[in-house]
Amino acid sequence: MNNMTYSIKGFDHCELYVGNAKQTAYYYQNTMGFKPVAYRGLETGDRDRVSYVLNQDHINLVITSPLGKNTDIGQHIDRHGDGIRDVAFTVDDSEKAWKESLERGAKSAMEPKEIKDSNGESIISAIKTFGDTIHTFVERHNYSGSFLPGYENIDSEWDSKSTGLVHIDHIVGNQPDGEMNSVCDFYEKVFGWHRFWTVDDKDISTEYSALRSIVMANDNEIVKMPINEPAEGLKKSQIQEFIDYYETAGVQHLALSTRDIIHTVKQMRNNGVDFLPTPLSYYENLHERIGEIDEDIETLAELGILVDTDENGYMLQIFTKPLQDRPTLFFEIIQRKGSNSFGKGNFRALFESIESEQNKRGNL
Ligand code: FE2
Repeated sequence: MNNMTYSIKGFDHCELYVGNAKQTAYYYQNTMGFKPVAYRGLETGDRDRVSYVLNQDHINLVITSPLGKNTDIGQHIDRHGDGIRDVAFTVDDSEKAWKESLERGAKSAMEPKEIKDSNGESIISAIKTFGDTIHTFVERHNYSGSFLPGYENIDSEWDSKSTGLVHIDHIVGNQPDGEMNSVCDFYEKVFGWHRFWTVDDKDISTEYSALRSIVMANDNEIVKMPINEPAEGLKKSQIQEFIDYYETAGVQHLALSTRDIIHTVKQMRNNGVDFLPTPLSYYENLHERIGEIDEDIETLAELGILVDTDENGYMLQIFTKPLQDRPTLFFEIIQRKGSNSFGKGNFRALFESIESEQNKRGNL
């Protein structure tokens, strides 16, 4: 099953379908330090949609809105609210990736097509995955533009200040109850991925909120996608709240890495990003729980940054509040210092914080 004749090289970009791409792009530029690098819309001959491509180091976000009524994009927004439509992968052969995925049981979302402009050519194709989410396979041939054919490069006079985000560490998919395993089987069967890490509800539960999670990873473990489902608790799981508002399975969070989480989070907070609060009690015995770390614990406490450790080292992480009005998509900021962990040691503190927010929304 693992002998694919093409390779997935990494996350290429994520495309969000939103109600107002111009303003959403402005938010990500000004709070998180993304730079607009490419654009398509009326000015480039697109009559039905507009897209802004935002870049920071290896991270690309595409922010898309419809320009008229009764569109697929509009239907996606009506059903799910603003959210991630496409988790795209860079591949060496888009047609092979698409064909083999279909042979292994995936459904097509777009047949392979060659796209061209004066900067070169690319081949794109796409398959369906959980909910209404798709995976586009992007293959570029010496493409010299800043994103893909059809997009115009933007030379923005806007001075976006990077907040130090480097690459996508992982992307998490939330599933309705009972569907986690079949989605993991899908990734195993279609892409030959393996189960990298697992937690069940005995590991991850507070008094109320429980979930199960399996992290799926590709061969070289550059691409990691944790797959969650709600578990029975005393009250509503945070995963169930997501499903209720997104209406289907969907992408819950993007984890973006930084080499200096203190700098990144300070800047984002100054720019107006809302993070989940961490109770001060979390830091009281942090030193005993995790041992020596480079960072000053008081600074971590001021910023609300969480720390977890495993046999290989430690990692620091923090989560934003939802980034749109529905309590669905959020971002995680993560700095790994040797550890490959997914923050199991932080689940309790984190979930208590999430539950308190859920409670304010009347959804607990
Ligand atoms: Fe995460």
